[in-house]
Amino acid sequence: MDVGTSAEPLLTLRGVTKRYGSFAAVDNIDLDIRKGEVFALLGPSGCGKSTTLRIIAGLEEPDEGAIRLRDTELFSSKGGVLVPPQKRNMGMVFQSYAIWPHLNVYETVSYPLDIRRASSQDRTTRTLAAIKQVGLQGYEERPATNLSGGQQQRVALARALVYEPDVLLLDEPFSNLDLRVREQMRIELKLLQRRLHIGVILVTHDQVEALSLSDRIAVMNGGRIEQIGTPVELYDSPRTPFVRDFIGAFAKFRGRVTAIDGVFATIEVAGAGTVRGSLRTQTKLSVGDDALLAIRPEQVRLDTQENALDAKIEALLFTGDRFEAVLNCGGQRVETWLPRSVNGQSLREGDVIRLDLPENSATVWAGERT
Ligand SMILES: Nc1ncnc2c1ncn2[C@@H]1O[C@H](COP(=O)(O)OP(=O)(O)OP(=O)(O)O)[C@@H](O)[C@H]1O
Ligand SMILES: [Mg+2]
Repeated sequence: MDVGTSAEPLLTLRGVTKRYGSFAAVDNIDLDIRKGEVFALLGPSGCGKSTTLRIIAGLEEPDEGAIRLRDTELFSSKGGVLVPPQKRNMGMVFQSYAIWPHLNVYETVSYPLDIRRASSQDRTTRTLAAIKQVGLQGYEERPATNLSGGQQQRVALARALVYEPDVLLLDEPFSNLDLRVREQMRIELKLLQRRLHIGVILVTHDQVEALSLSDRIAVMNGGRIEQIGTPVELYDSPRTPFVRDFIGAFAKFRGRVTAIDGVFATIEVAGAGTVRGSLRTQTKLSVGDDALLAIRPEQVRLDTQENALDAKIEALLFTGDRFEAVLNCGGQRVETWLPRSVNGQSLREGDVIRLDLPENSATVWAGERT
């Protein structure tokens, strides 16, 4: 999906590193954020997402690297450049609301214009426009603390948008909200971003949030970037075991390579059978090596038997449209999804089934010791 994004880079980071003592919280990262895109930094706790965002905002000074916003150098370790946060024209929303108790909605939203000394007419117009953008018209006089969590995050969003920033920085903005409000805010943010056409950098450790909101995602691990791609690219073609295991679910089978044939490898899964899968381009495997066959649960089929393994159903967990299933596959425990019925026949715990793993969807990776 490439709705209105352009290849023209808005913000670039080159070789950015931030150390705390000898520990690199952000380790030599390169990023190009394009105008009009939502770009997510996704990764587990402590991988350096917030530090990267704070560096972009100017709240943290990197040890090395360079950062540019269009033609303006914001930071350069070599050139000794460091533009302060208030001169970067970026709006920021944090996880905690950061709403001041003594101000009402109008005063909270207009605050960034007050400190930028905007003219009073300009201030009124822009403040009311920002409040309207986030759907809070009518709430201007309300003390900001007298609002629900979702409404408070909207106030924070309006405050970040009021001076029309080039880039909006969001650090886990919805993580304090309950699930329904969070889903609603996601939709509203996406619509708002499409309307305003600004660059958004979203920090999250929630893969659903990243996949659903972003045009592109950088997956981070230990201060480094593992892979950058569209949500579909990351979901369909993870390049590293870390990305594979971090985004979405896979049914995984341990086995041994018995043959290699171009881009396909044949894997023997002890006690369950022999199947073919597509070799990951980076994976170097030879006959006899341990391997891991991974397939998205929604690709597993029971109605065909072309490339199949035997399995016994240990447990079925009903989730509405399907089962989550725990299988015994030659002694290995495998988790996947199963349909509610096959050829009109409903599935039951204890059934022995043949799992068809279409060879173009099943991917072969280097084996992992467990
Ligand atoms: N001021 C600091 N002094 C020392 N270490 C720090 C400091 N700030 C962050 N770190 C460390 O740097 C690493 C990255 O922190 P960061 O806050 O960027 O992680 P994160 O990806 O945002 O995690 P989370 O999802 O938990 O918010 C962590 O190991 C953290 O402990
Ligand atoms: Mg963080």
